[in-house]
Amino acid sequence: MIKSLRNQLVVALGLLVSVIGVAQGISSYQLSKTGMSALLDMRLEQVAARLRDGLAYALPKNPARGTQDDRDVVAVVWKPNDPLPFRTTDPSLHFPRDAKPGFSGVVVNDEDWRLFTRQEPTMTIQVAQRSSVRRDLTTEAATLTLWPIAVLLPLVWIAVVFVVRRSLRQLNQLGAEVRAIDMGHLQPLPTVGVPTEIAPFIHSINTMIERLATSIEKERKFIADAAHELRTPLTALQLQADNLAPHIAPGNQERFQELRKGIARSGKLIVQLLRLARADAPMNGAPLSRVDLAEVVTGAVADVLPIAIARGMDIGAEEMVSAHVRAVETDIGMAVKNLVSNAVRYTPDGGTIDLRMRRDGGMVWVDVIDDGPGIDEALLPRVFDRFFRANPDVEGSGLGLSIVKAIAARYGGDVTLKNRGDGRSGIVASIGFPVEEVKESAAEAASASA
Ligand SMILES: Nc1ncnc2c1ncn2[C@@H]1O[C@H](COP(=O)(O)OP(=O)(O)OP(=O)(O)O)[C@@H](O)[C@H]1O
Ligand SMILES: [Mg+2]
Repeated sequence: MIKSLRNQLVVALGLLVSVIGVAQGISSYQLSKTGMSALLDMRLEQVAARLRDGLAYALPKNPARGTQDDRDVVAVVWKPNDPLPFRTTDPSLHFPRDAKPGFSGVVVNDEDWRLFTRQEPTMTIQVAQRSSVRRDLTTEAATLTLWPIAVLLPLVWIAVVFVVRRSLRQLNQLGAEVRAIDMGHLQPLPTVGVPTEIAPFIHSINTMIERLATSIEKERKFIADAAHELRTPLTALQLQADNLAPHIAPGNQERFQELRKGIARSGKLIVQLLRLARADAPMNGAPLSRVDLAEVVTGAVADVLPIAIARGMDIGAEEMVSAHVRAVETDIGMAVKNLVSNAVRYTPDGGTIDLRMRRDGGMVWVDVIDDGPGIDEALLPRVFDRFFRANPDVEGSGLGLSIVKAIAARYGGDVTLKNRGDGRSGIVASIGFPVEEVKESAAEAASASA
């Protein structure tokens, strides 16, 4: 059973063409044989007619023996009342003089002959040819007619493979397009220029994509709404706790502080949930600007500097590159800040954190390198999962990297997290965005007007 549609079509069309080709070959072979036979018969008749018209007298009376070729036509002329032939081109052959007029088959000297007998009032003319010679001639001619088919058949197979491949390329293309669908940005597949047979298929996929997008959007909106709704009572709770603080008996202070920490943790979780819902939301015409990535990097370092200094850490940005990204500035800021704050959070006191920028083709990357404990290789693939936390001892909601990933995807960028490959422990977290290329003259004009 052939599973591939392409192979099925190639085999079916190829076999069909082959059967037609073979049938055509057989019929032209047979037709050519019959035609050749008729031609040879005509030749015998013509020779007989010419003998009647006087050629008989031109034949030598006693042809020398052994001068006749096997392939030659043999002619015998009889005169009435004469027991021996009047003329013969081969005296060793004795054809029956009384053979029926017209064509007949006779055996002479153990050989089959095709004989044409013509009765005239003044003479009997017989013209004959060996059946084996005739067979050879007809087969030779018929075989020649098979050549074009023998040459064309393989060519037709090649053409069938080519045409079927070409026709099905559209399906392969569609498969690649479906595989490339970005779950973060569900877009309908293009329908322009699509063959009518494939169009309904694409419409079904597009309907499915639409439904999927609606359901994902509903889920996102529900999370955003829930987080938003939770924020108000939680803020009230926090206020109540703040008001209560002076009235808590010293013996209950420790438990009360735990309660406040719990409220604060829930607050942070809600804030992260809201950020994630926003990063996942469609752009919907949000105002984009030309974001200077180097500025974002120095800003992120400045933000965590007080904590880093307090913990005796060495944090710095080096190897800066001038590159701009077209985006909502707060998005890019949040993405870089999340990576930097992870580095600070998971690196022990006194550690070192380096930020570097680099260009790679059309992308600009920010690497955040720390010398903390790193992450178990087995857990690395899961760090971008929502709520996944590789190190439960340190406080966190497990949403920071999901937010970073959503922001990177939103602008056609990417984010990766790897253990350092230079023999030291620690993480290299990298985020890359497509660079906004501006023509030099435009950039100069912009800087001149600034
Ligand atoms: N630089 C790093 N070094 C070691 N582990 C890290 C580093 N960055 C991330 N991780 C691990 O990846 C997990 C997921 O990180 P993520 O930023 O998504 O969540 P979080 O930091 O726990 O919480 P949040 O960022 O939402 O406050 C973290 O819990 C931590 O275990
Ligand atoms: Mg984090």
